[in-house]
Amino acid sequence: MSTVLTATPAASTNRLHDHPLSAYYRWHAGIYDLTRWAFLFGRQSLVRSVSQHMMMPQRILEIGCGTGSNLVALAARFPKAQIMGLDLSREMLDRARAKVRPHGSRVGLIHRAYDAPMALGPKFDLIVCSYSLSMINPGYDDVLRISRHDLSPRGLIAVADFHSSPYAWFRRWMGVNHVRMEGQVLTTLNQCFQPLACQIRHAYGGLWTYLNYIGNPR
Ligand SMILES: C[S@@+](CC[C@H](N)C(=O)[O-])C[C@H]1O[C@@H](n2cnc3c(N)ncnc32)[C@H](O)[C@@H]1O
Repeated sequence: MSTVLTATPAASTNRLHDHPLSAYYRWHAGIYDLTRWAFLFGRQSLVRSVSQHMMMPQRILEIGCGTGSNLVALAARFPKAQIMGLDLSREMLDRARAKVRPHGSRVGLIHRAYDAPMALGPKFDLIVCSYSLSMINPGYDDVLRISRHDLSPRGLIAVADFHSSPYAWFRRWMGVNHVRMEGQVLTTLNQCFQPLACQIRHAYGGLWTYLNYIGNPR
């Protein structure tokens, strides 16, 4: 049975509830899986490319796991791994819980913002951030710095995310949806980690570019 651990006292739970992204996903959780396949590219290829760099991760954390699609893909690809998904949106985790149930206690869920290290048992040997960092504004850089405390020295960080767009109107529209796409995620990744693989690909003929990145701690 997978778990949602709300390891937060009432004041923190209220803070999560009032977070602008919690409010956003309260409405979007219901249509997330129906719509996001059309623009969150590079998620499946990220999981595939992790397995080229790490045969058998034992402990995996996804920061901002949302509705759990990556958790399911990771559980299938790494059948011996213990996997933890963390998210600040209760509604997104509700969807994830149904998806990860077949994997039992191997996949756990935590309801919290990633604003401090996990401090739960051994460190993780794989941390995944999939389309979460571009939405954490301000704070994506703190998330990456904090993640180094949760990553074992030989661990990997794997990131799929929006990178940039040459069109100001599109960047503005994405800003309305809480997404910043000005190349800032890659800049900070390169400050915090040593890249092992980094691909930037075009979407919809160059309307935007997206990033697949795998690195280890510097
Ligand atoms: C675009 S969704 C991505 C979900 C999933 N990783 C995927 O690839 O489909 C971004 C998720 O990050 C979560 N999130 C944003 N900021 C967060 C934070 N500081 N701590 C934890 N989760 C966060 C949001 O609640 C949302 O579920």
